[in-house]
Amino acid sequence: MTDHKRFWRRERAVYRILIVICAVVLIAAIATVYFMAAPVNEINDTENGYSSIPEEDPDRIENGIHLRTGFAEGVGLMETVNNCTGCHSAQLVTQNRMSREGWVATIRWMQESQNLWDLGEEEPIIVNYLATHYTPTDKGRRENLANIDWYVLEE
Ligand code: HEC
Repeated sequence: MTDHKRFWRRERAVYRILIVICAVVLIAAIATVYFMAAPVNEINDTENGYSSIPEEDPDRIENGIHLRTGFAEGVGLMETVNNCTGCHSAQLVTQNRMSREGWVATIRWMQESQNLWDLGEEEPIIVNYLATHYTPTDKGRRENLANIDWYVLEE
């Protein structure tokens, strides 16, 4: 074997190794691009702060609050959202505190004078929900002061 031939044989081996390395790098690059593009649709990646699923969910609940309306999470939430936010803001509901009878009376009043429809089987569910989460026993203000040594202001 001449020196010349040996040189080329070695050169070809180097080429082959280079081609293999290039192929591996290329596959790695394609895989990286694929996995970077895929999670947006396929993986709910809450750890990195981007998550396509909740963003598309109009009924997302965070910290016990239905974000779209401000209603509290609980049994009957969706029935209430579906029946009680069509004519006025949910805030008109959530700013109120009423007993069960009070909520029923409000519903009757809207049915008689504001064209609210018959709530049918959903009425007890909605009334339950309202009487549970928007009940007058919620303490909206501090309690009255007690056992105070009042003193007289001198003029
Ligand atoms: C068909 C339309 C309509 C629907 C649906 C509706 N309301 Fe009303 N509601 C009204 C109107 C109109 C008013 C009066 C708004 C105003 O005073 O600005 C009102 C007022 C209210 C008030 C305030 C009452 C007051 O005395 O100030 C509450 C509380 C209320 N609605 C709760 C609800 C609840 C709970 C539901 C679901 C069961 C509901 N509404 C669904 C029409 C509706």
